[in-house]
Amino acid sequence: MQEKIIILDFGSQTTQLIARRIRELNMYCEIVPYNKFPHNDPDIIGVILSGSPFSVYDEHAFKIDLNEIRGKYPILGICYGAQFMAYKNGGKVEPANTREYGRAHLTTFMQDNPLFKGVRAESQVWMSHGDTITAIPDNFEIIASTKKVTVAAYQAKGEKLWGVQFHPEVFHSEDGTQMLKNFVVDICGGKQDWSATSFIESTVSELKEQLGNDKVILGLSGGVDSSVAAVLLHRAIGANLTCIFVDHGMLRKNEFANVMKDYQGLGLNVIGVDASERFFHDLAGVKEPEKKRKIIGKGFIDVFEEEAHKIKDAKWLAQGTIYPDCIESLSITGTVIKSHHNVGGLPEKMHLSLCEPLRLLFKDEVRKVGRELGMPEHLITRHPFPGPGLAVRILGDVTPEKVHILQEADDIFIQGLRDWNLYDKVWQAGVILLPVQSVGVMGDERTYEQAVALRAVTSTDAMSADWAHLPYEFMGHVSNSIINKVKGINRVCYDISSKPPATIEWE
Ligand code: XMP
Repeated sequence: MQEKIIILDFGSQTTQLIARRIRELNMYCEIVPYNKFPHNDPDIIGVILSGSPFSVYDEHAFKIDLNEIRGKYPILGICYGAQFMAYKNGGKVEPANTREYGRAHLTTFMQDNPLFKGVRAESQVWMSHGDTITAIPDNFEIIASTKKVTVAAYQAKGEKLWGVQFHPEVFHSEDGTQMLKNFVVDICGGKQDWSATSFIESTVSELKEQLGNDKVILGLSGGVDSSVAAVLLHRAIGANLTCIFVDHGMLRKNEFANVMKDYQGLGLNVIGVDASERFFHDLAGVKEPEKKRKIIGKGFIDVFEEEAHKIKDAKWLAQGTIYPDCIESLSITGTVIKSHHNVGGLPEKMHLSLCEPLRLLFKDEVRKVGRELGMPEHLITRHPFPGPGLAVRILGDVTPEKVHILQEADDIFIQGLRDWNLYDKVWQAGVILLPVQSVGVMGDERTYEQAVALRAVTSTDAMSADWAHLPYEFMGHVSNSIINKVKGINRVCYDISSKPPATIEWE
């Protein structure tokens, strides 16, 4: 049995954060759409109701029949979750006079309430709501207040049912993690036994059962997710896993050879396909970014399919889909959690079933699993890299010569980040080849060569990003190296745009 907390998602932006915090407590949890409660799951030990963009009295507000869960599991409502439970039981929820947003302090709270064990006096909490609970139901009691919010938290008397109008899951709620721990461990009785090791053990045995003696194909990209998925599957089914790694010619310098060596060192059965000529041919003269992406996407599928067809009797296509991919496409109003098809449409076309062993993990958990599986650190901490590779970092048409120039410049930048101990401090970095020539002077010669932009960003999820504040000395060093060593480049710029409004990649 894998005991779990269910987080009912009413559409809040912080739902994923609640899950992160609970996983950090080594407790397993799953986010499910508010109307998809898994009633038949015997492993549920507690339920959290998330916030929501709606007001409880909105016509379109997401509603559930509380009686289906009340009394059966301990429940914690957060923000909308708290307002909804109060409202449904006869309490009053009204628009707040002023939107209650930002820091507040728990001026009074019941210290002996199990939800507040270890919570400090005047503990800071984070508020973010337009409505507020102005009256609680008869059998509820207020257990915490702030200066402006009387009903900061409540409990249904004699019941394991709590509501908090603040957000314990956000960083600015100082004792928020403690409160969540009180709920999942003390109140729900969670054993905190979710770890990379337990995940590997249970997943390997599930995969063995699910896949039996079936053959499985997996597309490797060199990235963390697909690599960890491959090693995990390999542990479960050994030689029945065949991996395909396509070189479209636009990878980093020596990347194909290095990654192939890594994979072979891990004992994986990998077919490396050098398809670069075909990609360069298809891309010749194409300048428009979306068209470039489409050509590469289609080329990738064609090559993958050709190779996959050579593997007789394959039944499954495995992918390194991770939790945020699933949650982003979680349809709250519909019924399905869509799968991310990195090799779009292939499973149906080839009559393969999908196997996504990492679909419930966050990125840092994937890394922990990789480490636990004995994978080399450089594979695990590798920066994200776009599927279409350097093609989207060469503005304008793509030629083998341009790729070569960019690979050299990129290699100097990335190696420099490693040498200066900066690689792990940035989310990702790369060089962009600009379709711009400018005048320079080298020795006694006038030059008229291309410019590159360095891009390095900090981020936690690539949804938003800031330009990395790299030391000037480092940038000076990289600029000198690139201009001195890479023929064809005589100018280096640094991209200081954040996302939004810019994106991480230039195309
Ligand atoms: P943007 O440029 O949208 O990038 O800010 C966000 C993150 O996604 C990566 N990226 C891709 N990854 N296939 C991928 O697998 C793609 O086509 C692709 N385009 C962008 C990008 O490197 C960044 O990490």
